[in-house]
Amino acid sequence: MNVDVSLGTRSYRIVVASGALATVGPRLRELSVGARAALVSDGAVARLYGKTVMASLESAGFTVATIEVPEGEGAKTLAIAQHCWNELLAAGLDRTSTVLALGGGAVGDVAGFAAATYMRGINFVQLPTTVLAQVDASIGGKTAIDHPLAKNLIGAFHQPRLVLVDPAVARTLPEREFRSGLAEIAKHGIVLEAEYFAELERDVEPLLARELGVLERIIGGSCRLKASVVERDEREAELRHVLNYGHTIGHALEAVTGYARFAHGEAVSLGIVAEARLARRLGVAGDETVARQERLLEALGLPVRAAAIDVEPVVGAIARDKKSKDGRVPFVLAPKIGAFRLVYDVPAADVRAVIASLGS
Ligand SMILES: NC(=O)c1ccc[n+]([C@@H]2O[C@H](COP(=O)([O-])OP(=O)(O)OC[C@H]3O[C@@H](n4cnc5c(N)ncnc54)[C@H](O)[C@@H]3O)[C@@H](O)[C@H]2O)c1
Ligand SMILES: [Zn+2]
Repeated sequence: MNVDVSLGTRSYRIVVASGALATVGPRLRELSVGARAALVSDGAVARLYGKTVMASLESAGFTVATIEVPEGEGAKTLAIAQHCWNELLAAGLDRTSTVLALGGGAVGDVAGFAAATYMRGINFVQLPTTVLAQVDASIGGKTAIDHPLAKNLIGAFHQPRLVLVDPAVARTLPEREFRSGLAEIAKHGIVLEAEYFAELERDVEPLLARELGVLERIIGGSCRLKASVVERDEREAELRHVLNYGHTIGHALEAVTGYARFAHGEAVSLGIVAEARLARRLGVAGDETVARQERLLEALGLPVRAAAIDVEPVVGAIARDKKSKDGRVPFVLAPKIGAFRLVYDVPAADVRAVIASLGS
C-alpha cells in the first residue's frame, strides 16, 4: 500500500509493505539524491535490521556512514544531536546527502532534528520500526530533542523525502511496546473514521496475533489517516490538534508519574477513556460512543482504569500543556465515532471529575 502525502514541493510517499526495508536503496536512488548517506539507529534496532538496510543502500551505490544513538528517550538530547552533526561532517555529507532514521520515534526525532539543522536541512528518510513510529511519529515532519525542563521543546518541522514502513518488523517488538502503539491506531479510528474503527473492532484477534496481512492493512490505514490530517494542516495551526485526542490528559498522566509508570500508549489509552467521559459529561457524546472506545482499548490490552491517581497534580500538568494558547488548553472531543470537535474553556471541575473517574 502506498500513501502519498501531498504537500506541494515537500510531498512524499509512505510505502507500507512487508519487506520494504530491503528496498530502501533503489527507492532512494529514484529520488536523485547524492551518493552519501548516514544511517542513524540505536544498538538494538541496528542489530536486528541494520544489515538489511545497509546491504540495500550499498548495492544501490550509496556510501553509508552509520551513527549509533542511545535507545529510547536518552537519544533526544543536545549532546546526541551534536554527536550526529559531528559524524555527518566527518563522513563528508553535503547538501545533496541523506540522513536515514532506522528505529522508533526517538531515533526518528533526533535523526530528523539533525537532518533539519545540518547545513540548514538535508534529505531525510524515515524507516520506522515501532508501531508508534510507523503510524504516527514518522509522518508529518515534526522533529525534536528534549529540553531538561520539557519534552520535545527544541525542534523543527522537516518533512521526510520518503517513509518506508515494514509491518513485519513489528513482530520483534516486546508485547508492551507493541500494544502501546495500538493506542495511536485506536485514536485515529475514534476521531477520524468510523469505518476504520469498525475494522479494528473486527480484527482485534489477528492484530494482537500480529498476522502480517492484518498488520499491513491496519498500519497502512492508520498511515493514510494521519497523512490526511498532515496534508490539511502541515504546521499544526488547528486541525492537526485532532491527533492530540487522549493526549491532553494522557501527557499529564505521564508527566505526573515521572514517565515511569505508564508506557506512552497506556497513558494515551487512559487519556482517551477520560476524554471520552468528558465528552459525555459535557453533553457532546452519548453512552454508546464512550462504551465502544473503552471496549476496544480493553480488547487491545490497554489500560482503561488506573488506581491511585492524584487528581490535582494532573490538572496542574494539563495547565502547563505545550498546546495551550494564552493559557487556554484545547480539548479534542469525539461527539461520535469518526468525528471530533475542538473545545476550549472546558470547566476545570469536569476535567477533575473525569480524571478521578479513572480509578473506578
Ligand atoms: N515526531 C512526532 O511527530 C512524534 C509523534 C509521536 C511520538 N514521538 C516521539 O517518539 C518517541 C517514542 O517512540 P517509540 O514509542 O517508537 O519508542 P522508542 O523510539 O523510544 O523505542 C522504543 C524501544 O524499542 C526498541 N525497538 C524499536 N523497534 C524495534 C523492533 N522492531 N523490534 C524490537 N525492538 C525495537 C528500541 O530499541 C527502543 O529500545 C518519543 O520520544 C516521542 O516524543 C514523536
Ligand atoms: Zn501519542
